[in-house]
Amino acid sequence: MNRINGGLLSEPVEKKSKRQSSWYQHGRFFFAWLRNPRGVGAVLPSGPAVGKLLVTGVRPGARVIELGGGTGTVTQAILDAGVDRDDLIVLEKDASFVKFLRRRFPGVKIIQANALELDRYADELSGPPDFVISGLPLLLFTSEEKKRLVDNIFSVLAPRGRFHQFSYVARCTVPAEQLRAVGARASLIGVAPFNVPPCFVFRLRKSAAGKHKELSVLRSSLRKLGLGRRAG
Ligand SMILES: C[S@@+](CC[C@H](N)C(=O)[O-])C[C@H]1O[C@@H](n2cnc3c(N)ncnc32)[C@H](O)[C@@H]1O
Repeated sequence: MNRINGGLLSEPVEKKSKRQSSWYQHGRFFFAWLRNPRGVGAVLPSGPAVGKLLVTGVRPGARVIELGGGTGTVTQAILDAGVDRDDLIVLEKDASFVKFLRRRFPGVKIIQANALELDRYADELSGPPDFVISGLPLLLFTSEEKKRLVDNIFSVLAPRGRFHQFSYVARCTVPAEQLRAVGARASLIGVAPFNVPPCFVFRLRKSAAGKHKELSVLRSSLRKLGLGRRAG
């Protein structure tokens, strides 16, 4: 029995499990980084402030794909935003992080996979994702890898879907021409100045111009099939 503020509690106070302890997570992360610095891309996991910025606008009922789960700071923020465990899939490349995440988040689909192939896994959700939330170290990705990632993300996202990405530099790490090619634009959601290192979080979504372009392509295809309205 536990004695708190002089009172008696019949239920034991829930102790933080080993996996929830931030020291344990920091240790796991640091050793994973030592093994594969380029693949992991950061010495320490993100702090909760980054997680909060990354889930801006995420509401219960949203379907989410998380890329690069690490030890789960962002996964926890997504669940704290009210996302159902069935509505979340996490793609993580590193086997030791996958094992850790599966134990920490039972019921969440944690898939050991390359995030560049996310289109192969989007079907695991009950419909198109409303958010793709990424902790991938994009600064270390080649231009071709970023292009493939962005093309894939915007091919699976719901029409009003958003792609949230963090960056350790004060600019969006997806080149402007790659965004233009998919009719998207980036805007800053916020900064986590006390994160180590300080972190900038960006929202990438289809711009009105991009949607307009898609609509006119659709209209012209319909016209070619003789299904659309003709001028005159
Ligand atoms: C900078 S860490 C961020 C981890 C965690 N989201 C956080 O914020 O603390 C990047 C994570 O992305 C994973 N990762 C890197 N490249 C990947 C890829 N191509 N596909 C899937 N995961 C990848 C790494 O293993 C690592 O867990």
